Amino acid sequence: MDFDKSKLPTHSSAIDANVSTPGAVSRLPGFYELPIRERVALIGRAAHLTDGELSKLNQFGALNGELADVFIENAIGTYSLPLGVATNFLVNGIDVLVPMAVEETSVLAAASHGAKLARLGGGFFTSASEPIMTGQIQLFITEQCDWQEILTTHKSKLLEWANRGHDSLIARGGGARDLDWHFIKEMNALVLHLYIDTRDAMGANIVNTMCERVSGILPEILPCEIGLRILSNLTDRRTAKAECVVPAKAFDSAEFRGDQVVDRIVKAYQFAFYDMHRAATNNKGIMNGIDPVLIATGNDWRAVEAGIHAFAAKSGRYLPLAVWSKTPEGDLHGEINVPMAVGIVGGVTKLHPTAQIALKLMGSPNASKLAQIIVATGLAQNLSALRALASEGIQRGHMGLHQKNLEMLHRSIDRNPVVHTTARVGASRT
Ligand code: MEV
Repeated sequence: MDFDKSKLPTHSSAIDANVSTPGAVSRLPGFYELPIRERVALIGRAAHLTDGELSKLNQFGALNGELADVFIENAIGTYSLPLGVATNFLVNGIDVLVPMAVEETSVLAAASHGAKLARLGGGFFTSASEPIMTGQIQLFITEQCDWQEILTTHKSKLLEWANRGHDSLIARGGGARDLDWHFIKEMNALVLHLYIDTRDAMGANIVNTMCERVSGILPEILPCEIGLRILSNLTDRRTAKAECVVPAKAFDSAEFRGDQVVDRIVKAYQFAFYDMHRAATNNKGIMNGIDPVLIATGNDWRAVEAGIHAFAAKSGRYLPLAVWSKTPEGDLHGEINVPMAVGIVGGVTKLHPTAQIALKLMGSPNASKLAQIIVATGLAQNLSALRALASEGIQRGHMGLHQKNLEMLHRSIDRNPVVHTTARVGASRT
């Protein structure tokens, strides 16, 4: 059914006047206060959207308009992505379905193929660190003092202060655990790192609240001015690791012997190790596996992206995120160990109905298990890409799927304007 613009409620004349003033359409005072349908009507007029376009904005999918409005400000609709399930994943001996929300052809097929190869060697073996987040408090010392001595003396008081008011986190086994500091002499700034166990939460709010709280008492113990107080997305104390071994014979094909492919994959890894341009593309391939699971489960993929790329450059040189080597038996060994700050409680994860379903598909993991499945998916994706690149090349499989999807799309449009999913072609290959 098409959306009828004329049935929309009227909106404030101030905004209306603004919209009718050429060049003023981005100045919309009070826009955020309007009900979502009124915002849509207003934007529709300003951007000359057709009834058909407006009706697309008014389809909220699993996320109703009310939730869209709760999640963000100025909401006018939702943006749909295909949601698929990567198959063949065996993680620590347990079968797992991996939900992935992504627009790119061949990502699901590649993840499933990588998992199928890893399965031949027993699947992925994973582990994770404790969920320790890092908060930063920047200080400027205003008078000469022995700040090392002062901070050492007051450390336990500061940690106790950080934990005040977080009884439920502490009851769940979390809380502020440790504190250390370093000096940035170039800007005369002292930086405190507060390490907080946020359990099943990603924890950004907990960390930021604790940093602000601790900064409140710092001037009482130190002559200082407070600078920034914010979490670090380089969560290098909250990491997850996955490993796999693929028997060389799994790579046998009409064109290549398995042992040749193993050698070529190891060389492909070395290429990324020595060449930053290749490392970026290699790591993009790993994020092809990681981001879609983060999105499907309602996690903050920008935070994980930032953390992972900073981690990749921690040595001073941007490096590939996964390491591939040949075992003494001649098989392929892969390993990834990266920051992975994800949660299953709080925020979007809890409220988004599809994120809830995605978690259920995975067997309702806790945050640690989720982090482990995510890094295993990144490793599977990298394995699949490197296998293709090191043998027949990426285009045969990728373009094959892409072309088939396009053909199916055109056939489907010819028959019926309601287009059926194109993801079926990719999934059927794995
Ligand atoms: C494409 O989305 C990802 C790849 O470029 C990754 C890689 O080159 O390793 C295939």
